[in-house]
Amino acid sequence: MSLTTTQSLFKLKQQGEKFSCITAYDAAFAHLAEEAGIDVLLIGDSLGMVLQGQSSTLPVSMGDMVYHTQCVARGAKNALIMADLPFMANNTVEDTLMHSGQLMKAGAHIVKLEGEAWLADAIVELSRRGIPVCAHLGLTPQSVNKLGGYRVQGKGNEEAERIKQACLDLEAAGADLLLLECVPTELADAITRNASIPVIGIGAGNVTDGQVLVMHDMLGVTSGHRPKFVKDFMAESASVLEAFQRYNQAVKSGDFPGPEHSFGA
Ligand code: KIV
Repeated sequence: MSLTTTQSLFKLKQQGEKFSCITAYDAAFAHLAEEAGIDVLLIGDSLGMVLQGQSSTLPVSMGDMVYHTQCVARGAKNALIMADLPFMANNTVEDTLMHSGQLMKAGAHIVKLEGEAWLADAIVELSRRGIPVCAHLGLTPQSVNKLGGYRVQGKGNEEAERIKQACLDLEAAGADLLLLECVPTELADAITRNASIPVIGIGAGNVTDGQVLVMHDMLGVTSGHRPKFVKDFMAESASVLEAFQRYNQAVKSGDFPGPEHSFGA
């Protein structure tokens, strides 16, 4: 497997080829995901929910993120390793720089920040210091209390235009990737076409350049409510490796996500 970088993802976008991403939190699963051909490993702050049993991502600390990033980095040799800045770790530009530096030292190749156009100042400074950034828009789980739940975002015209403009602003500020969570397929399509940087989707239809799922969701081990955008790839697989391979192939062929996993405007 060849090395995945932000530049290689950019090239895939230009060639119209899709790429796959999955969350990983430890060395063993990172190694398996990479063996299956998955391009990007995200140490998501979803670890608060799927590993720690918290009811949201808010309690996750920088210490948690650094520890799990180190574990994933030891297990993966070629995948692009992306790590989340947890809730309130980007209060100021200075905080963002310091915490992003810690994640990069732990083994991340790119950091992910949740927000909208207000992230621009921090992205400019991260870019200047050689730290690649993925901006996460749409449903941003760290804002669940402000959003009033885990709801589809960008449904009305005004909201859709705001998100579209924020994506353009963040690309102009120096973002290397965009991630759209739970937005109508039509909006994701417009953003993906407008952006020269790659766009990753989750609950954003099959129109984005890449797809991501939380590993526990796609292995069917998450208890309770399963979001509409999730498919259980373990159900038709004999091993975790096979489930990862099926997911990777389904993303790259454009078979996943289907309309049953996507949202309308
Ligand atoms: O924390 C996470 O796992 C994420 C994905 C849902 C995109 O941000």
